Amino acid sequence: MRTPCFIANWKMNKTIAEAREYLQAVEKRWPQLPGAPWETIVAPPFTMLAPMADFLKERPLQIGLAGQNVHFEERGAYTGEVSPLMLRDAGCRHVIIGHSERRTYFGETNALIHKKIGGALRAGLIPILCVGETREEREEEKTGEVIERQIREALDDLRPGPSDWIIAYEPVWAIGTGLTPQPSEAEEVHRRIRDFFRSLSKEEEADTPRILYGGSATEKNIAAFMEEADIDGVLAGGASLFAESFCNMIDLGVKAKEK
Ligand code: 13P
Repeated sequence: MRTPCFIANWKMNKTIAEAREYLQAVEKRWPQLPGAPWETIVAPPFTMLAPMADFLKERPLQIGLAGQNVHFEERGAYTGEVSPLMLRDAGCRHVIIGHSERRTYFGETNALIHKKIGGALRAGLIPILCVGETREEREEEKTGEVIERQIREALDDLRPGPSDWIIAYEPVWAIGTGLTPQPSEAEEVHRRIRDFFRSLSKEEEADTPRILYGGSATEKNIAAFMEEADIDGVLAGGASLFAESFCNMIDLGVKAKEK
């Protein structure tokens, strides 16, 4: 059984003080959460990583930290960039790579994403690779094709094992819009991604990376997504900014998976 995974992508939100308040709120709530094994990861802006790692070090709270982006080199003259080693140093185990906002606003290509994944893996970081189709691509029924190309080009020669990374299927048109695919439509894409990873392995039932859904995931819809066999968790944006709602999502998601 794959461990359910819930990731909060805070994007460009919050201050250090607000991040601390958020963790305190989760800490208060934690005892009420079910005892089933699941993984919780928060991806705050870079400036909050080290203070959050310090806060978490002194507590039993099981929350991992992820960067929202990374450069592919270890160090060098790349003004404004943050390296995989720096993310490790600041307390991250994971890093989001290829988010659609990076692709759209900062021109990230599959080739660049491939380099970033390589850099992350070399530093011992676990990439959370985001893929997803635009509204036009969906209307042209190109979803499967687009996703497969994004993954194939991000991988290129890399063949990481099942626990070496996480995939997030985030339809671009569903991010921040309140729109979502039907859970069964998302499941179809997740299934295709899983089959693709299985096709890379010689074993038919090989373990594959966990595949999370992202795009307007909320307390209202998380259970329906998590009931699908190939949806292993959620990468949440807006709804994850509130500790209460993110905790509720975890609670509902874990329960739906246990059904
Ligand atoms: P929303 O949950 O705000 O739609 O954002 C999803 C997302 O981009 C997570 O990475």
